[in-house]
Amino acid sequence: MSSTDREQWATRIGFILAAVGSAVGLGNIWRFPFQVGQEGGAAFLVVYLAFIILIGLPAILVEFVIGRRSERNPIDAFERLGYRAWTIAGLLGVLGGFIIMSFYSVVAGWVTRYTLASATGAYFAEPAEYFMDIAAGTDALLFHLLFMGLTAIIVGLGIQRGIEMAVKLLVPALVALMVLLIVYGFTLDGAVQGYAYYLSPEPGAIAANWTSILPAAAGQAFFTLSLGMGIMITYASYIDDERSLVGDGAWIVGLDTAIAIMAGLMIFPVLFTIGVEPGAGGAGELFIGVGGAIAGLPGSRIIGVLFFGTVLVAALSSAISLTEVTVSFLIDRFGLDRPVATGIVAGGIFLLGIPTALDLMVLELYDQVTAELFLPLTVFLLVLFVGWFYDEALDEVSKGVSADWLPGAWLWHVRTIILVVIGITLILSIQGLIETLPETIEAIELL
Ligand code: PFF
Repeated sequence: MSSTDREQWATRIGFILAAVGSAVGLGNIWRFPFQVGQEGGAAFLVVYLAFIILIGLPAILVEFVIGRRSERNPIDAFERLGYRAWTIAGLLGVLGGFIIMSFYSVVAGWVTRYTLASATGAYFAEPAEYFMDIAAGTDALLFHLLFMGLTAIIVGLGIQRGIEMAVKLLVPALVALMVLLIVYGFTLDGAVQGYAYYLSPEPGAIAANWTSILPAAAGQAFFTLSLGMGIMITYASYIDDERSLVGDGAWIVGLDTAIAIMAGLMIFPVLFTIGVEPGAGGAGELFIGVGGAIAGLPGSRIIGVLFFGTVLVAALSSAISLTEVTVSFLIDRFGLDRPVATGIVAGGIFLLGIPTALDLMVLELYDQVTAELFLPLTVFLLVLFVGWFYDEALDEVSKGVSADWLPGAWLWHVRTIILVVIGITLILSIQGLIETLPETIEAIELL
């Protein structure tokens, strides 16, 4: 990060807004319900919530500690702290973020498309068929290009700050629209079935499927909290020393989780009402579920434009944070101009995303490999570093915290439980990938 960037978010509210803007995005509204559907409903929700509280929140503090202490981006941070070899963790995170961005942009392209299609009512009659028609192919590619172009313009001009401020408006607007759709869902015939599926785990369901639920829940938690990509390291490098990292972290995690839970409340009643089985829509769950709900509402066109338009801004603020990490790395390391660095990064992301715009299976493959492998591996390395190698962590996390016992308890937790749980998760993820990979690759129609 250059020094001018560093000053941009020097205020507390700037930091919280930037971090919330990064965290709240397609991960909450698109990816979360799709994971719930694939992993069988409420059992996933329970494991996910436990993971967010017991692992996600303490892990966000791990990134904050590295960021605030080093005042650097994730790649230069370790050298600055005097542990050069650990730069590998930062590099891995940046690489994961780069790949995530390539399909994130395709999904955001769908959202862009739905914003326009709401105005004409194009998907109202057949929500599920419409999604399948537009999800892959030249149209999807075009919208991927459009979204990436928009992100590049904002990052290239260095005007993120305006977007971060828009988040202030956006989060309440998003919440209001979601409440409206949740209330509508409540009135539908499939509401009871939808809530039961989403909120009431069948006895034994977790025990029976934990080997696939745990890695999925972990991947979703890291993805939605923007962990394992260096984002929170970067943002925390702007926090001043008086702030309590614990307090800020709790706010960000709480808000992010609330929005994800609401997305589920919005979608599952609709799926049961229109007769689409959760999980069957795969990556299309949000579009089919919310599309179906919007179609049934009075003023559907306006509500559709508002809803998908708001989601689009949320996606944009997350995409900016993701792109900015790589761009600032190129600027710092190779002294490139911002527009040049942005052009290279955005061009690379666009190219890498092409296969995901042409085949849904490829998108789901990129998604699974990054969320269940790259992210947990990076977080594992960061946790290992802060827990066992970095001496100053306790001092850093204690700043501004009044409960004396908290920092010590956190460090103990990081050193033991978190490390073990993420370690187990990684083993399960790798096993799962080895099992499903051949099937997935066979199903890809590009090859
Ligand atoms: N957390 C964002 C979301 O939930 O949509 C996505 C994201 C942003 C992931 C930034 C990773 C990241 F570094």
